[in-house]
Amino acid sequence: LSSSSKKLVVYFTNWAHLRKDEARFVPGDIDPSLCTHIIYSFAKVNKNESGFILEGTQWSDMEMFSELVSIKDKYPNLKLLLAVGGWNHGTAMFNEMASSAATRAQFIKSTIKYLRDIKFDGFDYDWEYPGNSDRGSPPETKRHFAELIQDTRSAFEEEAKTSGKPRLLLTAAVAAGVYAVDSGYDVLTIAKSVDFINLMAYDFHGSWEDTTGHHSALYHRQDEPPAHKTANQDAAVNYWIQQGMPPDKIVLGVAFYGRTFTLRNPEVHGLGAPIRGPGTPGPYTLEPSMLAYFEICELQSAQRNWSCQHKVPYSICGNQWIGYDDTESLRMKGEYARSKGLGGVMVWSIDMDDFKGKFGTMGPYPLLRALKSGLDGRGSLDARPSDTQVAPTAPKPADVPGKPSSPSVSNSAQVPPKPSQSKAEDVHDKSETGVMSYPGDGLFPDPKDPTKYYSCANGIMYSQQCPPGLVFNPVTKTCDWPQNVRK
Ligand SMILES: *[C@@H]1O[C@H](CO)[C@@H](O)[C@H](O)[C@H]1NC(C)=O
Ligand SMILES: *[C@@H]1O[C@H](CO)[C@@H](O)[C@H](O)[C@H]1NC(C)=O
Repeated sequence: LSSSSKKLVVYFTNWAHLRKDEARFVPGDIDPSLCTHIIYSFAKVNKNESGFILEGTQWSDMEMFSELVSIKDKYPNLKLLLAVGGWNHGTAMFNEMASSAATRAQFIKSTIKYLRDIKFDGFDYDWEYPGNSDRGSPPETKRHFAELIQDTRSAFEEEAKTSGKPRLLLTAAVAAGVYAVDSGYDVLTIAKSVDFINLMAYDFHGSWEDTTGHHSALYHRQDEPPAHKTANQDAAVNYWIQQGMPPDKIVLGVAFYGRTFTLRNPEVHGLGAPIRGPGTPGPYTLEPSMLAYFEICELQSAQRNWSCQHKVPYSICGNQWIGYDDTESLRMKGEYARSKGLGGVMVWSIDMDDFKGKFGTMGPYPLLRALKSGLDGRGSLDARPSDTQVAPTAPKPADVPGKPSSPSVSNSAQVPPKPSQSKAEDVHDKSETGVMSYPGDGLFPDPKDPTKYYSCANGIMYSQQCPPGLVFNPVTKTCDWPQNVRK
């Protein structure tokens, strides 16, 4: 295969534009020469009187869709997909929507119209996870998910015939842990209908455990506990292949963020060191237990170490322990995907690279460029043939049910923006309503629900929902912590 046939898929998050200063990421920051597919996250499943529908999640979606579409003027081969779901979306709407042919058909019809309206090229299901009771999806949703994928593919084909447009692409972001794969995916059925899967091969370890562990190791380590030996990217890829997914439909997901831990004792800081809890939030991403790569390369005083067996770096900075990827490990992962004959690589998420080169010293997009050079077969570093390293036997289900062995693609960053960080009108769902009489332009509390407010412009009132835990503050006109809002 020529390098040009390999996919470099990047997720674009519709909240990264809310970050402050140099970390603010907008469509204009994308370098389209470094990717083949952009997946916009997230839209959501909703329903109204006419049935299940696809809906955007932010006020700014429409504007960003059209900015992304305009990139195609110069890069006509670039593909734009819209992702539905994500970790915070939950499973309830998916469960219900996928449960019957009729409800699936409602949703798919709405989705096709939405995608054609915004001029996108495809759709990515990000249900986390079907068949996973811990996440609220009962066992039969494994079958329903496969049916949803099949129905969507058929409908996309039908639509292409009647519209004369190229068929919409169909992908799914899928779990990497053995338990989540077994309980969630009818792999052979899905394989026939998807163009490719985005394998979320990260979050294998995190501060929900008792010790440090790298969340996105490429290979296992000799001295790992047996139950951890399948918690790495190579094992996940092999497991999906064994279940019947053709390698060239597997797009290996890599993380542009680190998972962080607070060490119990800073003197004890290897892999498997005891921890006190999650690492402290980064100054831009503001979420415990993770740091964007650009925040990691700001840590001047960090001591970098390299795990020769995992093939990934980790850093120690005081009592903070960070397992992440850098240019060296990502070049290897690109090379791994190429030598293994995979469809390509996927990135969660593009906004967490040092995209302007303002934080580090390697210029813009150091991670994406390193990943791409590995994928293209340029500058291979220690690219040992992966197959000699793979244990040929099928990995036994090792991850413990109930543990988020691979919480999600979106778990890493889809936290509600903190009140200080966000302008209310940017962060909420856009849905029209006509309950109150028009109060004039501006933001107004919803008299019936303190967690909601109305954003009013040009005679239209949009009902908006504050992020979980927050209420509308009529004084500051933002979503705020309840204790800050005067009764
Ligand atoms: C339901 O949503 C769809 C898609 O947004 C819209 O076209 C339709 O008018 C809505 N139906 C009702 C009854 O509100
Ligand atoms: C780096 O790893 C080696 C081998 O595990 C270990 O001996 C050394 O202490 C580590 N250094 C740091 C700074 O963690």
